[in-house]
Amino acid sequence: MADKNLEIVTTADGSKTIYNAEVGELYHSRNGALQESQHVFVNSGLHYFLAQNNAKEVSILEVGFGTGLNFLLSADVCTANNIALNYTGIEAYPLDAEMMAQTGYEQYTSATLWESYVTNYPQALANKVTLDAYGQLQIAHIKLMEFNTDERYDIIYFDAFASARQPEMWEQEAISHVITFLKPGGVFVTYAITGNLKRMLKALGLKIEKVPGAAGKREMLRGVLSVTNADLGAY
Ligand SMILES: C[S@@+](CC[C@H](N)C(=O)[O-])C[C@H]1O[C@@H](n2cnc3c(N)ncnc32)[C@H](O)[C@@H]1O
Repeated sequence: MADKNLEIVTTADGSKTIYNAEVGELYHSRNGALQESQHVFVNSGLHYFLAQNNAKEVSILEVGFGTGLNFLLSADVCTANNIALNYTGIEAYPLDAEMMAQTGYEQYTSATLWESYVTNYPQALANKVTLDAYGQLQIAHIKLMEFNTDERYDIIYFDAFASARQPEMWEQEAISHVITFLKPGGVFVTYAITGNLKRMLKALGLKIEKVPGAAGKREMLRGVLSVTNADLGAY
């Protein structure tokens, strides 16, 4: 059944997003859902990681999977570069298939990926699924603080609602929980930047970098988990 709190809206670059009336927040920037996803997560996260690492496989953990736009764009990049993708999205309130179909995101990805994504979406909410050439996808239907795994990830896409709307997602407890899943040398990216977030990430051992933000935002934040001698000894 469709969630009456959710509504499809069009952003400044013509791409669609979802407005959650209960939270009072959009799923993406009003200045462009597509440009934000490409800039913050794909370019500043995935492409940055690939430029630093000669990787044949990459694992990504996303906080706030939502529509899956960040997954779709990342999967196409990995396929084009012959990189095996292992993607886990954490999502407490998964969208139904009807809402997903109204996003129009099939325009931004290959037809075969879209087909595979919508077909496998329900199963991905229960188990890890293999999407043909597009690697593996699992959507953990759970709240961030209840999520746990033995896996460690190369990249974290932190795409929670803004701290003004959901402050608990940006507090010490949540941020340190997320960072436990990052590999040494792994990359954390998010669209926001605050002094508090920078301090927390530094204290958790990340090297912080201010990166030009997506349209409408001057800066965003990227952090790389420092590799220690002890970490190197483990390889
Ligand atoms: C900014 S939106 C993410 C947009 C998404 N990345 C996309 O491309 O569509 C934030 C997401 O976090 C989810 N969410 C809210 N509270 C959560 C929690 N405690 N744990 C995990 N996900 C949560 C929301 O349901 C929503 O899908």
